[in-house]
Amino acid sequence: MKGIILAGGTATRLFPLTATTSKQLLPVYDRQMIFYPFNVLIKAGIREVLIIVAPDNSGQFLNLLGSIFQKHDVKVEFMVQKIPKGLADAFIIGEDFIDDDDVALVLGDNIFEDDLYEKIGSFKKGGMVFVKEVPDPERYGVVEFDKNLRAISIEEKPQKPKSNYCVTGAYVYDSRVVEIAKSLKSSDRGEIEITDINNEYLKTGDLAVEKLRGVWLDAGTFDSLLEAGNIVKDRKMHKKFDPIIDSAIKEFNAELKNIAKSVLFRRQNKNIQTINT
Ligand code: G1P
Repeated sequence: MKGIILAGGTATRLFPLTATTSKQLLPVYDRQMIFYPFNVLIKAGIREVLIIVAPDNSGQFLNLLGSIFQKHDVKVEFMVQKIPKGLADAFIIGEDFIDDDDVALVLGDNIFEDDLYEKIGSFKKGGMVFVKEVPDPERYGVVEFDKNLRAISIEEKPQKPKSNYCVTGAYVYDSRVVEIAKSLKSSDRGEIEITDINNEYLKTGDLAVEKLRGVWLDAGTFDSLLEAGNIVKDRKMHKKFDPIIDSAIKEFNAELKNIAKSVLFRRQNKNIQTINT
């Protein structure tokens, strides 16, 4: 299975923080936000990850993630999404990357307390979404269930939600998703909607709907960003990362410190030389 992290967008709700960097590179407690979705993919055993970024801060993503996993056999690729066209666009941008494989998509600002790896690991075919009970379902894709609690439809940002269960930002599909994404028409908000992809899979009874129990956060506002950092710290979620992520970050930090030291050393040496001449 391949993995995609969608880290595009302009994140206007987080201005001025996102005037200088991308939302997904902002810190959530002790590491950049993007490591959280990365962790979901790595824990699920995925070793090929495509990161889709906006043009503005693409270099910063490359600096952080371009070689950090090199020693850990994790291949990272980047693609630029010039204009945000909706979540489903990730599968069109990632067509060649996905090839004939299954694919897991995680949104770059989503933080999950639940371990999703067992469910993702058990994926066979069709699609799989993770839903969470929320007090404000009208902001999301909302699942309608029948009497037997089977999902029968999903509506994007409905005025009258048919349940309190919303679709979160982690999705797994077989490779059919690319053709489905390509066939979609833009919605009223001018995007191709992942909800339409999910409804396609639902129609044929091929969509698994998994309920989450733990905390789910999309760190897209000042309050949710702050809350995310606090929850991560309180629930010690930063201590539950896959060892691959932890070692990669440790190595990266050590490298940065060494570089900083050698730059300082060179500067000091240069000063001594200048004094001596
Ligand atoms: C998108 C999806 C929506 C989903 C949500 C999860 O909404 O369209 O179905 O529930 O992500 O965060 P958007 O962030 O584009 O408003």
